[in-house]
Amino acid sequence: MQYSDQQQLQHLYSIEDLKPQTIYELFELTERMQRGELDKTLSQFYLCNAFFEASTRTICSFELAAKRLGVNVVNFSSNSSSTKKGETLLDTMLTLNAMQFDAFVIRHSSDGTAEYMAKIMGDRSAIINAGDGCNEHPTQALLDAFTISQHKNHFDQLKVAIVGDIAHSRVARSLIYIFQHLGVKDCRLIGPRGLLPDADKYPWVTLEDNIDQGLQDLDVVIMLRMQLERMDQRVIPDLQEYFLKYGLNGDRAKRMKDDAIVMHPGPINREVEIASSVSDGKNSVILEQVRNGVHMRMAVIASLLTHKS
Ligand code: NCD
Repeated sequence: MQYSDQQQLQHLYSIEDLKPQTIYELFELTERMQRGELDKTLSQFYLCNAFFEASTRTICSFELAAKRLGVNVVNFSSNSSSTKKGETLLDTMLTLNAMQFDAFVIRHSSDGTAEYMAKIMGDRSAIINAGDGCNEHPTQALLDAFTISQHKNHFDQLKVAIVGDIAHSRVARSLIYIFQHLGVKDCRLIGPRGLLPDADKYPWVTLEDNIDQGLQDLDVVIMLRMQLERMDQRVIPDLQEYFLKYGLNGDRAKRMKDDAIVMHPGPINREVEIASSVSDGKNSVILEQVRNGVHMRMAVIASLLTHKS
C-alpha cells in the first residue's frame, strides 16, 4: 500500500499502482521546485540514503534534493558498513529505523526490497525506492515523464520507444507503467529477443527486434545500458556487434521525427548502445533529465514528508 487512508502518498516504492492524478500533482510540484518556492523549508526533517548497490547520479541527486529543501541527510553505503561484517539487510534497516529518521531512500539488488521495508518498518518513516533489482525505479520514470512533458504535449498522441536491455531494467518497468497511466498508446520495446519481456507481460506495448523498423516516426526514444551485472548469463557476447545491430547512431536517428528527443537514464556506455554524436547531439535531453531529477526528487521528498507532519 502506497497511500494512506486519506489517499495521500505515504511511500513511493512503485509506479504500478500510482494514480495518474498523483503523477500530475508531482509534475506541478516539480515546477514549483524549479522556481525555488520550497527551498530550505523542511529543516525539521531527517532523511537517510540507504544504498546497498552502486550509484552515482541517483544518490547525489537525492542528497542534493533533500539539502535544497533544508532536510538533514545521512548517507549510508553498504560498501563501508556492517554489511561487510555479516549483518543482514533486515538488521541493518531495523537499526537505522531505531534512529528515527523521517524518510529512507533505499536502493538494493533484490526485487521488492523497498516495499518489504515499508511493511516492516511501520508508519514512522516514508520509504522511497531508488531502485530494487530488476523491479522498479519510480523516481527515474517520474523525472523522465516530466522531461518529456516539457518537450511534448499530449502523451496519448506520442510514439515512444525503450531500446536495449529491457529484461533487466527496472527503469523500463517503471516507464512502461507510467506511460500506461499517462495514456500513451504507441509504446515500443526494442531489443534482441533474449532481452525483451514475454509478449503477454505488457499486452498493450509492441515488441520489436528490428531497431530500424522500431525507430520509424518516433517522438521519444529512451536508450538503455546492457546491465551485465544483472544477467545470469551473457545474452550479448559481443558489445561491438551489439552496437552495429542495436546502437543508436546518427543514421538510425534520422528514422525518427526531426524533433524527436533522445533520452537515457545513465550511466551511458558510449559506442555500445549509443553513439557519442547522438548522446551529445542537438536532440539529446540526457543532461536535462539529470537536472530535472533533482527537482522531481525534491517534489517526492517534500510531498511524503509534509504528508507525515
Ligand atoms: C539506472 C539504474 O540504476 O537502474 N541508473 C539510474 O539510476 N539512473 C539504470 C542503469 O543502471 O543502467
